[in-house]
Amino acid sequence: MSIRFDGKVAIVTGAGGGLGRSHALELARRGAKVVVNDLGGSRDGSGGSSDAANKVVEEIKALGGEAIANGSSVTDDAGVAHMVKQTMDTFGRIDILINNAGILRDKSFSKMEIADFQLVVDVHLMGTVKPTKAVWQIMRDQGYGRIMVTTSSTGLYGNFGQTNYGAAKLGVVGFINTLKLEGQKDNIRCNALAPVAYTRMTSDLMPPEAEKMLSPESVTPGVMFLVSEDAPTGMILCAGAGVFAAARMEESEGVFLGGDDLSAEKVAANWEKISDFSNAAPYFMGGEQTGKFFKLATGGK
Ligand code: NAI
Repeated sequence: MSIRFDGKVAIVTGAGGGLGRSHALELARRGAKVVVNDLGGSRDGSGGSSDAANKVVEEIKALGGEAIANGSSVTDDAGVAHMVKQTMDTFGRIDILINNAGILRDKSFSKMEIADFQLVVDVHLMGTVKPTKAVWQIMRDQGYGRIMVTTSSTGLYGNFGQTNYGAAKLGVVGFINTLKLEGQKDNIRCNALAPVAYTRMTSDLMPPEAEKMLSPESVTPGVMFLVSEDAPTGMILCAGAGVFAAARMEESEGVFLGGDDLSAEKVAANWEKISDFSNAAPYFMGGEQTGKFFKLATGGK
């Protein structure tokens, strides 16, 4: 079964280069009308120009596709409102939002200024929340929406020098964990991508030989599925070099350590059981964990 986006309208943020450009081109090849958003700044978030977005729009048009450029910053309320208005005025609906824009300000935590932390959280987390908020009611009214956020192995697992980026990147996962529940009744599905690709963002962190293997084009097929009609919801897709895997949070089975005679020593003495993941399980919502706690505390009834 082929995945097509005919009649669908997609916004891709940060689509002037790297992964976003690849996602935007492939959406257009598969029939979507695309809004190519990019601030066109440098890797650390300074500066800006609409050249990057315009260039990708030209590439899409050369393929015979339909696209418009938007040079707003995803952190700017008026700019985001303008991007959504421009999309509605031009194409009349919004089916897909790919939150992809991002910057880096790497430093070990001891050397990091709070301003570098704040800016990275603003771009990745609030720069995902603001466009999502701006399209949310439109998708609810349509009874259809596909939202993707871009997380990272740094958010899921950690990476030296990226406390700011990791906090923001796990933040977007926390965001969709609830958004997927709130979107369910209106057929809005929300997923996260954890990519690995050789781009402007990572080129000096990777050997040059990695360029061919870690192309953005080797990630994009996973994105097409995550924003398709048959998309799952609440999933984290890890993708790079043509490899695809799913990540999730899970919790160990847990152990009831008693009511009246609890102590820190009892927790320490039972650490092995507490942290035994052999019967670990994932949850679709927080309340499922509370249910398990009740069950264990009342002897499994
Ligand atoms: P990139 O630097 O090539 O692309 C990011 C784009 O976002 C740039 O074109 C930039 O101009 C744009 N942008 C930055 N701030 C913006 C803002 N405020 N408003 C609008 N556009 C803005 O980097 P890449 O690698 O393509 O990154 C795409 C996404 O994937 C980012 O969210 C990044 O954190 C994430 N990611 C990338 C990985 C990789 O291995 N390349 C690994 C994990 C996550």
